[in-house]
Amino acid sequence: MTHDEIILQLRQQSAERLEQLWRQADQCRRQSVGDAVHLRGLVELSNHCSRRCSYCGISTHNADLTRYRMNADEVLQCARDAVRLGYGTVVLQAGEDPSLTTPWVSALIRRIKDETPLAVTLSLGERSDDELASVREAGADRYLLRFETSNRALFDRIHPPKAGQSSSDRVAILKRMRELGYEVGSGVMIGLPGQTWDDLARDLELFGELDLDMIGVGPWLPHPQTPLARQAAELMAPTEQQVPNTELMTYKVVALARLLCPRANIPSTTALATLNQQGGRELGLQRGANIVMPNLTPLKYRQLYEIYPAKSCLAEEPDVFDAALKARIQLIGRTVGAGRGDSPNISGRRSSGGHADSRKDEEMYRADTLLDAVQDQKERG
Ligand code: 5AD
Repeated sequence: MTHDEIILQLRQQSAERLEQLWRQADQCRRQSVGDAVHLRGLVELSNHCSRRCSYCGISTHNADLTRYRMNADEVLQCARDAVRLGYGTVVLQAGEDPSLTTPWVSALIRRIKDETPLAVTLSLGERSDDELASVREAGADRYLLRFETSNRALFDRIHPPKAGQSSSDRVAILKRMRELGYEVGSGVMIGLPGQTWDDLARDLELFGELDLDMIGVGPWLPHPQTPLARQAAELMAPTEQQVPNTELMTYKVVALARLLCPRANIPSTTALATLNQQGGRELGLQRGANIVMPNLTPLKYRQLYEIYPAKSCLAEEPDVFDAALKARIQLIGRTVGAGRGDSPNISGRRSSGGHADSRKDEEMYRADTLLDAVQDQKERG
């Protein structure tokens, strides 16, 4: 797909053409990663943050917010919940909290690895090469760090550097993670004030260039306690250039990400479910996504991790949400994934020397696709 073709798809209005895009993305998802929807248990372990990102509700701008940090026992309890609910992965997410030191995070990962079979994904913001190497050594399998936008000027505007430091280079950090053997995930926000069609098409191209194993995208949702929400009107690009932060745009980006990176793991994100509480999550899964990240954060902390307002599932008990989610996955003709759900992308890359788990997963994935093909044949008679 050329840059101009991507823009054309992003700006597509024809209902018929869009149906075609959804069908293509769904077919590509089925052929490349199968019908299983893998579930990742999300633990938001601290809302402390040392950064001043102008879009984010837990940045230092938000002086009104009560801050919390979970202790290791609380996190372990969430990991046990993940195992009990049959999830293969726990995602440890937090603001850029300097108190989550490398020794503390490493000890936590070791405990999770000792006590559970879970894959561990980290989403702890920008970390130095040494820190990334140490936590990888402790057993972390994957790392999520969205580059947010490929437009450097826009990125610098919404993501001011730490005092006395130069602006961060998230693409370089992602490349470093790859060298360290992480499964690497990134993504962007859609409809940031000042984000143009050209920028968003470039974002999608960068997903492909980075050969991402995981891609998470969601609409920018204005949080009233942030500078970006207050200044949005002045920062908008000219109307014909500005990307809207809508549900429809999000599906288009999910579908195109699938077509450009067929074997990536792509979640149907909470931000999408926030825009359409009834059916957003399912529509994401039917238009390219293959992952859901149920929130396992203890309810007493959950409303304090408000990166954007009215976040979906603020008050939902993990067990209640889980039962409904699994039923909904089956209702749309999909299966609930078993095992760790490693990226088929990285299993391919690791073809020799990969550890036993990913080889087993790869075999299960092949069997899954084979069964799908047989089922297809039967249906066609
Ligand atoms: N709207 C939508 N997404 C947001 N994020 C942070 N703030 C917002 C917001 N206001 C996303 C960023 C970040 C991820 C954890 O959440 O993309 O990387």
